[in-house]
Amino acid sequence: MSTTSIAESLENLTPDAALDALLSAYEGQQACLTCSFQAEDMIVLDLLRKRVPLIPVLFLETGYHFAQTYEYRDRIAREWKLNLVNVTPQQTVRQQESELGILYVVNPTQCCQLRKVEPLMQALEPYEIWFTGLRREQSPTRKNLKKVEQHRLPGGKNLLKASLLADWSWQQVWDYTTRNGLSYLPQYDQGYLSIGCEPCTKIPDDPNNARSGRWSGTKLECGIHTFSERAQ
Ligand code: ADX
Ligand code: SF4
Repeated sequence: MSTTSIAESLENLTPDAALDALLSAYEGQQACLTCSFQAEDMIVLDLLRKRVPLIPVLFLETGYHFAQTYEYRDRIAREWKLNLVNVTPQQTVRQQESELGILYVVNPTQCCQLRKVEPLMQALEPYEIWFTGLRREQSPTRKNLKKVEQHRLPGGKNLLKASLLADWSWQQVWDYTTRNGLSYLPQYDQGYLSIGCEPCTKIPDDPNNARSGRWSGTKLECGIHTFSERAQ
């Protein structure tokens, strides 16, 4: 079966069933999950760890995350015995700030490029399947997301990008979390709804627009989901 027909056949399956079908169609292929430890990522991780316990869990370690995020990451990595891979930028926060200033204030696009996008481009090179916790509902920029897409990295490598929760609502995410007794980042209890680097994450004024709390609504994407070219 071609990638396009596999992708189409998975579109209406539950996350569990889509994952089983994908792993069986691409048996033996190297897979990874990009994980910021938000609620969606915890669900995908929960599904994956039961099937591929040593799957690399790539955390983009920008150096600017909340202390609570680091504590939660480390606790989950320990309790779930994760194969955690901290993906780091070329420069430390201190080096970047002394050379280029406080980029998240003056040029957040460049900051995301240096601390998230470029490190991820490199980190994805060894893999054939890239799992994410993306959902269509999160942003107008994600409304056409398919559960499985073929992407081309800037270096020319093709890989599958799988977003098993693409069609889920926030309510479904929360239902799964509570039904399965998953823990979650403590910032949710403070009112945060979409959680990234601390300087660029606020409690949203509009609870119906989770991402209005990211970059104070001035940009919708950091670039990690726009740098690769969709090849199908
Ligand atoms: S972002 O592009 O705005 O930061 P968002 O926070 O919505 O993305 O998360 C969407 C998906 O991007 C997550 O499910 C995860 O796959 C990936 N992601 C976002 N931030 C990180 C991070 N710091 N480390 C690893 N993956 C991340
Ligand atoms: Fe820098 Fe903010 Fe982007 Fe994090 S989200 S890399 S702090 S601009």
